Amino acid sequence: METTHLTFSLIIFTALLTFSSLLNPTLASKCNKDDKKALLSIQSHLGFSGWQSSIACCDWSGVNCDADGRVIGLGILNFLSAGGTIPPAIGDLPFLQELFLHKLSDLVGEIPRSLTRLQNLTTLGISWTNVSGPVPAFLSEMKSLNYLDLSFNNLTGPIPASLGTLPSLNFIHLDRNRLTGPIPATLGNLPPPLSLYLSHNMLSGPVPRSLGEVVHINTLDISKNQLVGDPSFLFGASKPTDTIIISRNLFEFDLTGVEFPVNLTTLDMSHNMIYGEMPKQMTELNMLQNFNGSYNRLCGEIPQGGRVQDFDQFSFFHNRCLCGSPLMACK
Ligand SMILES: *[C@@H]1O[C@H](CO)[C@@H](O)[C@H](O)[C@H]1NC(C)=O
Ligand SMILES: *[C@@H]1O[C@H](CO)[C@@H](O)[C@H](O)[C@H]1NC(C)=O
Ligand SMILES: *[C@@H]1O[C@H](CO)[C@@H](O)[C@H](O)[C@H]1NC(C)=O
Ligand SMILES: *[C@@H]1O[C@H](CO)[C@@H](O)[C@H](O)[C@H]1NC(C)=O
Ligand SMILES: *[C@@H]1O[C@H](CO)[C@@H](O)[C@H](O)[C@H]1NC(C)=O
Repeated sequence: METTHLTFSLIIFTALLTFSSLLNPTLASKCNKDDKKALLSIQSHLGFSGWQSSIACCDWSGVNCDADGRVIGLGILNFLSAGGTIPPAIGDLPFLQELFLHKLSDLVGEIPRSLTRLQNLTTLGISWTNVSGPVPAFLSEMKSLNYLDLSFNNLTGPIPASLGTLPSLNFIHLDRNRLTGPIPATLGNLPPPLSLYLSHNMLSGPVPRSLGEVVHINTLDISKNQLVGDPSFLFGASKPTDTIIISRNLFEFDLTGVEFPVNLTTLDMSHNMIYGEMPKQMTELNMLQNFNGSYNRLCGEIPQGGRVQDFDQFSFFHNRCLCGSPLMACK
């Protein structure tokens, strides 16, 4: 699933990079003077080269302007081999709507408060860097945010509850960090359709009930944490959920009476302590493309029919006493 959304981000980067060169050069040459100054300061702070003062800033790679020459998009990517801390001068680009700092292994230090000056920022991606420290609570001051990707960094500490107050935020990637503590119940207040990627951290405690009340979760990936309890309230035949990945946690619940969202395409529950039987309703999941229920404590006959037998033994093995195709026949 990470791959899918990384692809999504990369499409945005590519759009960002190509868009500036498509702009009418006479418009691009307008290049807002204060924005240009901020960009030059960012370049010198990060120690890369390539943005030449003699060229209009809207034509620089990774820079995207509006028709008035104001910088609305910025993507600093691996090929710029930039290093150091996140430049405070990024906060001096008041028109910025999209910011990506991606695949910069020499980018270090904490996420600076100066970012909160970007009140029109809808999209913030800081991913595949060595940025550390907390997911700052002050991100909740950036009221326009709808997309937040802080995946693949070295972030620690809890997920701030204040993120749940952002009125438009519904796409959150905090996966592949070293985050601890519970999933805040406030995330259930975020506007639908919600996509939440929190996998590969050290989150603990139960999944908050509030996530079962969100009217539309599109994707939930909370795999590879230390979450406990019974999150079966995330399921329900009438929910429009597409993807649920809860593998590699400490979940312990009876699957027997559970009804899965009928349009699920991906369901991974592997490596937990789930017990009981596999629900017959599984045969009604006509969209199911990925399934993994292995390494649990399930028992009884695997439901026969629908798409269930499209999956091989490795989707069912290492359970207490599951039987029937694609495993051995029941005795
Ligand atoms: C922020 O967006 C609003 C609404 O689109 C616009 O009126 C305002 O001028 C923008 N501010 C800046 C600094 O771009
Ligand atoms: C973080 O830095 C280490 C050591 O320089 C490097 O090996 C690693 O790839 C970096 N991580 C990321 C995500 O860039
Ligand atoms: C990640 O952060 C920890 C401390 O929080 C630090 O010890 C470690 O060196 C960091 N790793 C990198 C690659 O920066
Ligand atoms: C499942 O998908 C179908 C076809 O797109 C749609 O009509 C139906 O409302 C969906 N059901 C749910 C529970 O989202
Ligand atoms: C399900 O997970 C198990 C354990 O991680 C793995 O060995 C198996 O290949 C997975 N099956 C599928 C279909 O991905």
